[in-house]
Amino acid sequence: MTREELKAAAAAMLDRAYCPYSHFPVGAALECADGTVFTGCNVENAAYPAGLCAERNAMFHAVAEGHTDFRRIVIAGRGEDFCVPCGICRQVMREFAPELEIICLNGNGEERTFTLPELLPHSFGPESLG
Ligand code: THU
Repeated sequence: MTREELKAAAAAMLDRAYCPYSHFPVGAALECADGTVFTGCNVENAAYPAGLCAERNAMFHAVAEGHTDFRRIVIAGRGEDFCVPCGICRQVMREFAPELEIICLNGNGEERTFTLPELLPHSFGPESLG
């Protein structure tokens, strides 16, 4: 999948978001090393902490299907600001892909790309356990 196709896959997931509480839809498309793509959207719940972010939805789906080698992820939002991943999602990315490329989109279709070390410096990972 091309970069533009991956961006389109993330944006398409905005329509699947279940966000009746925040009204803040998020879509994600995760590309694995072999090219397989997993998508996700945020799924909220009346018991608020039970909700799940779009990125973790995509990452956990990938792991459940046997994919842990993540190459890049696109995160799409509809706001003015680029939709950057929350802290918990950054930590989950760190577990599987310490150098992950993270492409963040805003509602105008503009993008900004980060690496995970930029968003989560001095991170704690599996090797930190010794
Ligand atoms: N959200 C995501 O899905 N990903 C992020 O990185 C930021 C936040 C969701 C969680 C919640 O459903 C809504 O956006 C508002 O926080």
